[in-house]
Amino acid sequence: MDKKDIDWGDLGFGYIKTDKRFVSDFKDGKWDEGRLIEDENIVLNECAGVLQYAQTIFEGLKAYTTKSGKIVTFRPDLNGERLENSAKRLEMPVFPKERFIEAVLATIKANEAWVPPYGSGATLYVRPYMFGSNAVIGVKPADEYQFRIFTTPVGPYFKGGVKPLTIKVSDFDRAAPRGTGDIKAGLNYAMSLHPIVVAHEEGFAENMYLDAATRTKVEETGGANFIFVTKDKKIVTPKSDSILPSITKRSLLTVAKDYLGLEVIEREVLFSEIEEFAECGLCGTAAVISPVGKVNDHGREICFESGMESMGQICGKLRDTLTGIQLGEIEAPEGWIYPVE
Ligand code: PLP
Ligand code: COI
Repeated sequence: MDKKDIDWGDLGFGYIKTDKRFVSDFKDGKWDEGRLIEDENIVLNECAGVLQYAQTIFEGLKAYTTKSGKIVTFRPDLNGERLENSAKRLEMPVFPKERFIEAVLATIKANEAWVPPYGSGATLYVRPYMFGSNAVIGVKPADEYQFRIFTTPVGPYFKGGVKPLTIKVSDFDRAAPRGTGDIKAGLNYAMSLHPIVVAHEEGFAENMYLDAATRTKVEETGGANFIFVTKDKKIVTPKSDSILPSITKRSLLTVAKDYLGLEVIEREVLFSEIEEFAECGLCGTAAVISPVGKVNDHGREICFESGMESMGQICGKLRDTLTGIQLGEIEAPEGWIYPVE
């Protein structure tokens, strides 16, 4: 199989049409067997549930070419489980985890030529998603759905790769207590578009959202969870019912404990204490772990010890170990790596 002729090292985080996408339809109470198709366009009724009431959920994971030249993906079972939870919360039918994994592997396989080569720094981003497809005008769940998966080759989510970012404390809230912050629903991202445009206009890379009820606790950014490192090298990460349970974060906590021998603490993190931390990172599939050098709180700058020149030492080790596992350079915990065969 010949790889596509792409300048892999120059890729940003954008959409490039690849060869095949997976589609399965839910109709009359059941999912059909699904198929790989070439057409990237979707024709929908003007009144489709997704268009009127935003009934849509998604996932994000990546495929990698390992050091030995094999194509693999990372913990798709956890994405499958999270999609199940998202579906239940938005009254959508569950696409079973086992079928999800099978479909992800088949879609990657069908787009093998688009999986960036080992050492290029790029990966194939895999985007599973599901939406209500039939006409719905009264506010109620759709009866028909599509589950789809497309892929696109990507480089770093933040320009500059691992250069420390400056982010701002948002004046907007991302998720309500008992709301939908803990699922991956399109609606959570729609509401973050105005805050991110404002942040970018002001020169910030991302927003730090605080808890909506008290605005005293750190939640997450628009597309990643936070990891902090204390001055005595402990990992602290916010615990909250209204943040997305990041698969990258869960993996990094295991890496910190089992590979780096670090203490890991998941707890509420007060905004007032973040200046005590030595390092701060944003973690997610797209972000991997991207360092934060500075948080701007309405003009007051909170600067982490790790500075604005390079990634902090512990975040760097976490990143190198996680990517080493994903690229087959470091032995993975059992069940983390799924070969695409
Ligand atoms: N938080 C939000 C809001 C996200 O969109 C993402 C991205 O998926 C994450 C956290 C990180 O989750 P994961 O590591 O599973 O990609
Ligand atoms: C991901 O990391 O997969 C996400 O969905 C985050 C998004 C900001 C691209």
